[in-house]
Amino acid sequence: MSVPSVLKCVICGKEFDPSTAPYTCDACGLDGTLDVLYDYALLRKSMDRAALKADPTPSLWRYEAVLPVLRRESIPSLQVGWTPLYSAERLAAKYGVKELFVKDDGRNPTGSLKDRASAVGVAKALDFGRNVVACSSTGNAASSLSGFAAVMGMQSTIFVPEQAPQAKVTQLLVYGATVVLVKGDYADAFRLATAAIDKFGWYNRNCAINPYLVEGKKTCAMEIAEQLGWDVPDKVFISVGDGCCIGGLYKGFSDLMELGLIDRMPAIIGVQAEGSKPIHDAFKSGAQRVTFTKAETLADSISVGSPRNWAKALRAVRKTGGDMITVTDQEILSAIPELARSTGVFGEPAGATAFAGFRKAAQSGILKEADRVAIVVTGNGLKDIVNAQKSVGKAITVGPDLEELERELKKR
Ligand SMILES: Cc1ncc(COP(=O)(O)O)c(C=O)c1O
Ligand SMILES: [Zn+2]
Repeated sequence: MSVPSVLKCVICGKEFDPSTAPYTCDACGLDGTLDVLYDYALLRKSMDRAALKADPTPSLWRYEAVLPVLRRESIPSLQVGWTPLYSAERLAAKYGVKELFVKDDGRNPTGSLKDRASAVGVAKALDFGRNVVACSSTGNAASSLSGFAAVMGMQSTIFVPEQAPQAKVTQLLVYGATVVLVKGDYADAFRLATAAIDKFGWYNRNCAINPYLVEGKKTCAMEIAEQLGWDVPDKVFISVGDGCCIGGLYKGFSDLMELGLIDRMPAIIGVQAEGSKPIHDAFKSGAQRVTFTKAETLADSISVGSPRNWAKALRAVRKTGGDMITVTDQEILSAIPELARSTGVFGEPAGATAFAGFRKAAQSGILKEADRVAIVVTGNGLKDIVNAQKSVGKAITVGPDLEELERELKKR
C-alpha cells in the first residue's frame, strides 16, 4: 500500500494531486490518461530483491509497496496474480529462439489478466468510500469487475456489446451484476457507459479512464521479471485492444527500473488483429495520434477500433524499441491449438493472439536465435468455445462397441 506522489498526464505531462481523484487530464481530455507515480527513491529502501524473495505472498499484493491502495480493508480476498510462467522449450526450438516463456494469465480468478486491474479498481473504490462500480468492456474487464464487486458486497453495472461471448455474459449474470447489453460495438458501449457513469455518479472502472487500473495490470510485468530472477526477456508479446494491458506492461517494467530491480527494459511488441489495428497503423506511420476505425475480428477482446489508451500503448512500443504486428483471424485460430498442444495453455482468441504474433515474427526473421522471449496469454480458452471449436477437428462418435471404435480409429 502506497500513497502515490503524483498523477501525470501521459501526453502533456501536467501533474495532478492524487487526493483530488481526477480520472483523465483536464487539458487533454479523454486522450490524456494519467500515470500513477510514487516516491521511488524512498521505496528503493524497502522494496529490494531480498525482501521480495522472502515474501511468500502468492498474489499481486506482493508488490503492494507500489500499488496505490490506501487501506488494507479495501483489498479483495480473491487471489489474483502470481500466475505461472512456463518455459516452452519445444516451441522455442521450433521457432528458433533461445527461450520462450508463456505467462498464463487465464489462470486468474475470473479467467483473464483483467483481474489484476479489477482487484486494484475495487480497492480504490472502497478507499474513496464508493459502493457502486461500473464499466464498459469487450467482456473480460466486465466479468472480472463483477466478480470482484461481488466478493466485496458492492453493486456493479456493466455495459458490454450485445455480441459479447455467452460465457462472459453468463459470468456477469452469475456474479450478480446489472448487465446492459448495448446494441452496437465496444465504442457504443463505451459511450453509453461514460454518459451513464457521469449521470449516476458510479465509480468508473474503465481502464483507459481510471489511472489506478493500469497499476494493477503492471504487476504482470513485475511477475515476469521476478519469475525470471530479474533477468528480463529481450522481447515480450501481448495482444492489444484498448491499449491498457500493453501500457501496463510498460509501467511495470519502468517501475522496476525506477526501483533498481532490473537494469534494462524488454522490447514490448503489441499484436493486433488485421481487422482491428489502429494502434499498429499509427505506430507504423509514425503518427502522433491514433485514428479511430471500424473493428472486425473474431477475437472479441481486441475488437477495438477506438482504443482509449492509445497514448500509453504507443509509448510502450516506441520507448522500448518494440514493434506492432498484425495477424489474421485464421492465424489467431490456428494459434489456439498449437499453443495448447505444446504448452497446455488454452487461450481465448485474444490470448492466443500474442502467440500468433510471436510465430509470425519468428517466421519473418524479426527474432534472433539468442532472443529470450515471453508471451502473455491474457485470457482463458473457456471464455469463448465457439471460436475455439472452429480451430479444431471433430471428436469420434461411436456406440459402446470396440469394433466400431477400431474402424473409426483406422480412418484417422
Ligand atoms: C483476453 C484479453 N486479451 C487482450 C485484451 C486487450 O487489452 P487492452 O484492451 O487493454 O489492450 C483484452 C481486453 O479486453 C482481453 O480481455
Ligand atoms: Zn494532458
